[in-house]
Amino acid sequence: MGEQYSLSALLHSEVAWLTLLALALAVLLLRFRAAERSVYLNTLWLFLIGVFGQAGALALEALGFPGVASAMHTIFRIVTAISLIRLVGFGLFRLLLPLMGRVLPRIVEDVVILVLYAIYGLAQLRGAGVDLSSIVTTSAILTAVIAFAMQDTLGNLLGGLSIQIDNTVQVGDWVRVDDVIGQVRDIRWRSTLIETRNWETLVIPNSMIMKGRVAILGKREGQPLQWRRALRFMVDPGVPPARVMAIVNEEMRDVPIANVARSPAPTTVLHNFIHGNLEYELRYFLSDLLEDEMTDSMVRVHLFASLQRAGIRIAEEQRTVHAVSRDEAHADAVRKREITRRLEMLSGVDLFSVLSEDEMSELAEQLHYAPFARGDAITKQGNVPHWLYIVAFGEVEVRYEPPHGAPQVISTLRAGQFFGEMALLTGEARSATVIALTDVECYRLDVKSFQTLMHRRPEIAEGMSRVIASRRPELEKVREIFAAQPGPSAIEQADLLTRIRRFFGLRAKA
Ligand code: CMP
Repeated sequence: MGEQYSLSALLHSEVAWLTLLALALAVLLLRFRAAERSVYLNTLWLFLIGVFGQAGALALEALGFPGVASAMHTIFRIVTAISLIRLVGFGLFRLLLPLMGRVLPRIVEDVVILVLYAIYGLAQLRGAGVDLSSIVTTSAILTAVIAFAMQDTLGNLLGGLSIQIDNTVQVGDWVRVDDVIGQVRDIRWRSTLIETRNWETLVIPNSMIMKGRVAILGKREGQPLQWRRALRFMVDPGVPPARVMAIVNEEMRDVPIANVARSPAPTTVLHNFIHGNLEYELRYFLSDLLEDEMTDSMVRVHLFASLQRAGIRIAEEQRTVHAVSRDEAHADAVRKREITRRLEMLSGVDLFSVLSEDEMSELAEQLHYAPFARGDAITKQGNVPHWLYIVAFGEVEVRYEPPHGAPQVISTLRAGQFFGEMALLTGEARSATVIALTDVECYRLDVKSFQTLMHRRPEIAEGMSRVIASRRPELEKVREIFAAQPGPSAIEQADLLTRIRRFFGLRAKA
């Protein structure tokens, strides 16, 4: 026994090289897994305490306390072994396996380390001459008793284990458990933490996840993460369904909206017949599950604007006769308010200041309300012109689109400014593309009414030609930069006016 506790025996025993192994592992872990350094440092400290404790036992032995020394040696040897097993486990699961491209769930690491502890414990008992078979039997009975008493806890533990091992639910997944939707933040031994969009954290026992129905949202083998959303809206049956669906689908496919997946493309279906109306469902795929309501709202804004532009109203429930008559009075009031708004807007446009009150009212009646959602192309370069646009709300951007290369921003226009006059006055195609920078409300005047106005009030045509002359140089400048051959040089205002007069068949004032 005395030989066993001598210092040279300790130095020559396995303790020396095990200490080297522990130090090497700790250095590697601290170097490559710095984020968890406190765990490694604590374990290393524990190991060193074990080693120094064993040395202390030797000292006690030398001082003549063999009994205490023996007990102390055993305790510190166990401390050393436990911390070393932990370090080896860390090295295996956090360095070696990741290096080989395998990252296993933390629970597997915990279980393997526990099993190693058990094996070590049994080996120690066997070394001490204990009959292992009786231990195994006793512990089996004990385990059965404990398992029976702790059914729920064990269910949770095993649940946690299997969730992590078979990788069905992973941290970061969006899930629906019962009626709650949230993102998995952590899978622990007993429970899974789910954070909802309302900033709640749900603690769900793992056994419930294993037994209950959990939907993993937006996940499909081999596909990007995206979750189908369905927005319903109703339209009067007087509008042909094909038209409604075409308008909405075109808007949804042409305009990029944040977090709306391009593929599969959004689609609209006629979903139901409700109270004499047609109910449609617009379906799209949401790519960031956190932004569900924001994106729904953006999609609804686009949907609503595209329908309004086409003169289609979102339907209300059909009412009784009494309600309908009240509706008419309401509609009349709405119309008067609308005309007042148009007149206010027109009075803000300098060019129309020459018009009499009656002419203004007539013009106000002729305008068509045209809302656009952010990102919409209001008019496209090269198109045949149909409208003159006046901005009533929001901001638009005028872009020249060169044959090759990215679109060039020429100007931004705000409420009270107009666009689309160039093509209408010169008979050419649209000179530029105009995009809604914000949600925009425009009023537009059709070609015929515009031409009538120009004939009746040539001074407005003159005013417009001055605006064109001031806008044109910028357009020409970009065109020339991008054209292989320089485009036509800036047209003098006098020239422009002559061309406009010729196009409209107007006579010059004497
Ligand atoms: P039109 O050519 O009919 O269609 C595109 C419109 O963009 C054009 O009429 C003008 O109203 C507008 N536009 C073109 N160039 C400019 C510019 N430099 N500044 C402001 N608006 C412009």
